[in-house]
Amino acid sequence: MVETRLPPGVSAIHVLPADHHDGPWDTMVVPPGTKERLLGHALLVLRHGRALQSLSGPPHGVIVLAGPPGTGKTTLCQGLAQAAALAVSRRGATTFVEIDPHAFPSEMLGESQRAVRRLFAETLPELAARRPHTVVLLDEVEALAVRRSTASFETNPVDVHRATDAALDGLDALRSACPHVLMLCTTNFLAAVDEAFLSRADLVLQMSLPDDEVLARILGHSLAELAAQWPALAPLAADDSLHAKLAARCSGVDGRRARKLVLAALAARPELAEDPGLLSADDLWEVAGAAAVGDIA
Ligand SMILES: Nc1ncnc2c1ncn2[C@@H]1O[C@H](COP(=O)(O)OP(=O)(O)O)[C@@H](O)[C@H]1O
Ligand SMILES: [Mg+2]
Repeated sequence: MVETRLPPGVSAIHVLPADHHDGPWDTMVVPPGTKERLLGHALLVLRHGRALQSLSGPPHGVIVLAGPPGTGKTTLCQGLAQAAALAVSRRGATTFVEIDPHAFPSEMLGESQRAVRRLFAETLPELAARRPHTVVLLDEVEALAVRRSTASFETNPVDVHRATDAALDGLDALRSACPHVLMLCTTNFLAAVDEAFLSRADLVLQMSLPDDEVLARILGHSLAELAAQWPALAPLAADDSLHAKLAARCSGVDGRRARKLVLAALAARPELAEDPGLLSADDLWEVAGAAAVGDIA
């Protein structure tokens, strides 16, 4: 369920668990133990955030996923929200709030600072009061918590620095008011995120580009999804050695491009676009070669 009237700075609100959110968690191929660690951190905050607040070093409820674009950070956060919501569903539903960090304008002096303050002091606490569990996704957090120590005042006007201060103050205030709220943050540029913000993270997970083995699994999975629609593709979807060869051929591409590769193969010839069931290993081989040299989007 998506709510239509959204508070400022919020790009979407979902109520989880929801059936159509099941996909991302299962389809993400990550190193062993990664999902367990993420889910562990998430559940600790959602279930016991209040009780843990009395510790000398309480959790901040912040998880940061860092890594190059297309490595699945946003998708993994969305999947984690659903997986955590499922795990706590016996105790009630979860509000999943997606923040648009680019909704905080820095052009007007004082404006973004006020907007950030309102987000943490009003919007998020109000949303957190709605349901027993709340997960917030702060995508591309470097837009909101700009590293003050290295950011030049020329490229980052004073207002941006103030907005970072407001984000830190806001995070601390939210933590004491709503210690059970989980904040999932992503960044393409860890070096651009403010150190004080990062030091508040309970977990900073570095995502890397997929190696050939992971690429092969992503390709196999993408073909399996197509084969569900066009059963003639089942042999291609089941051909692990083909997936491995394709992965070696496009070695070094990110996960997003790997997913697009199968689509690019379908779009390569009008006959295939007309009837995807005609897709052949040769078609895939061709686009895998092109992907390696950066010919496809
Ligand atoms: N390790 C991976 N396993 C499976 N799919 C992946 C992986 N990395 C990226 N993808 C796919 O690439 C696409 C882009 O991922 P996204 O979450 O938007 O990346 P990011 O936020 O890091 O830029 C998604 O469709 C996702 O499923
Ligand atoms: Mg992203």
